[in-house]
Amino acid sequence: MNIDWKNLPFGYFKTKYNVRAWYRDGQWGELEVTESEEITLHMAATSLHYGQEAFEGMKAFAGKDGKVRIFRWEENCKRLQLSARGILMQEVPDELFKEAITKVVQLNREFVPPHGHGSAFYLRPLLLGTGAQVGIQPAKEYLFMVFGTPVGPYFREGFNPVSIQIVRDYDRAAPLGTGTYKVGGNYAASLNAMKRGKEEGFSSVLFLDAKEKKYIDECGPANFFGIKNNTYVTPESSSILASITNKSLVTLAEDMGLKVERRRVPVEELETFEEVGACGTAAVISPIGKIVDRDTGKIYSYCKDGKAGPVSQKLYKTLTGIQCGEVEDKHGWNMIIE
Ligand code: PLP
Ligand code: COI
Repeated sequence: MNIDWKNLPFGYFKTKYNVRAWYRDGQWGELEVTESEEITLHMAATSLHYGQEAFEGMKAFAGKDGKVRIFRWEENCKRLQLSARGILMQEVPDELFKEAITKVVQLNREFVPPHGHGSAFYLRPLLLGTGAQVGIQPAKEYLFMVFGTPVGPYFREGFNPVSIQIVRDYDRAAPLGTGTYKVGGNYAASLNAMKRGKEEGFSSVLFLDAKEKKYIDECGPANFFGIKNNTYVTPESSSILASITNKSLVTLAEDMGLKVERRRVPVEELETFEEVGACGTAAVISPIGKIVDRDTGKIYSYCKDGKAGPVSQKLYKTLTGIQCGEVEDKHGWNMIIE
């Protein structure tokens, strides 16, 4: 097998095996291993009509020591359970989730990028309503599956500054809607804004709170953070996905002696940040070099020397160092796969 580990896109790459379990007759069945990339669904499955579908995104990393580590799996498991409750799907038990991600890594070990290429093995757990309904009701049957794919950085800039566009004419999620759940509908709702943003030359868009359009919500498929006066600031909002990367950066920032503020962040505050960035499993930390307000034309500039700021750099090095086993994992975030 000849994989160009250094130049992997963030995309689908066929591996050997994926795993599946079905919830039928009121219980979860055994995990099945398959080589098939396809699933057969009833045409009236609730996932197809009523969006009963949730997913997760997590990464496994090969260290210099040859060991593979999965980062904070319990958090992704909890979030999938939260998403399931949010749209009335059957929850996946912890043990089933753990067995599934472990197997996918073990069975596809040759697809886990070797250490040192800036790539990772991305795991995609997926839960969907497979039972047939025509009335708007939750399904009685569900499929849980996990596949993996080797990936490079989500933004082609990697750890180099990206440009972001503020939009007001699209919302990703409503304040009392499904924004806090990782459900497909939120991503469908973001497609038009993201497509236009890319066509207009931006890596992603910055969504504002849907109600007042005053506060920063999140940055496409990533949370937003800003740094100023030795403080890590990140938006509090009832419509954003609680990022596990962001949660980790909050802990690392505190470890480094920074103050942390989780609160509403008004758009005008962008003027005052020394550094800003987007963070997520796929994005890792993407330093933001420029934010353009699509309506007012106002431009906010950062990274004047073309590089990420010192705090973002330190956070990035520490986070990625822990993930690949080079920095002590003192919070116990990694699960080592034998
Ligand atoms: N926000 C959205 C909308 C996302 O899709 C993601 C990706 O999972 C994130 C934030 C970042 O979350 P995490 O760090 O848990 O991957
Ligand atoms: C992730 O960061 O894992 C995501 O899910 C982002 C996007 C690719 C959906």
